[in-house]
Amino acid sequence: PKQQTLAVIKPDAMEDHKEEILGEICSRGFTITQLKELVLSRDLAEDFYSQHRDKPFYNQLVDFMCRGPCMLLVLTKENAVEEWRSMMGPTDPAQAQETAPGSLRARFATDILHNALHGSTSQHHAQEKIQFLFGDITSDLNSDGV
Ligand code: CMP
Repeated sequence: PKQQTLAVIKPDAMEDHKEEILGEICSRGFTITQLKELVLSRDLAEDFYSQHRDKPFYNQLVDFMCRGPCMLLVLTKENAVEEWRSMMGPTDPAQAQETAPGSLRARFATDILHNALHGSTSQHHAQEKIQFLFGDITSDLNSDGV
């Protein structure tokens, strides 16, 4: 059965690597079922990462995520959650270069904070974040539905 996951191209990777990352996503057989590019508001970034609120890097993480455009993607494929995580590689690019040298983070991330990409850790989290970011798509429309 097909699965959905949420992928985010973070501001550091948007600057130079957006096209290449999108190309690899498509060539690995993911379907991009929703996509939007935007600068996250501080409130949205804080809510998105609210599970990390008590971590020492939380403020830096929120600053980083708001510093320029992000691309938010819903990716659909069999086993999408696991496949996207494996394509990204480990959170820390130093570790990615050791254990998964071909992975996107090994190639494009700078350090554990500026790590180029995000992906949901489970199907449950994916559905929750997709709903949070794309959920009420009609709220973007005006009263005439345009
Ligand atoms: P992500 O997979 O989006 O999930 C949480 C993010 O917090 C992570 O990628 C990194 O951007 C950041 N992060 C995780 N661990 C650390 C850390 N030890 N120091 C700084 N940033 C971190």
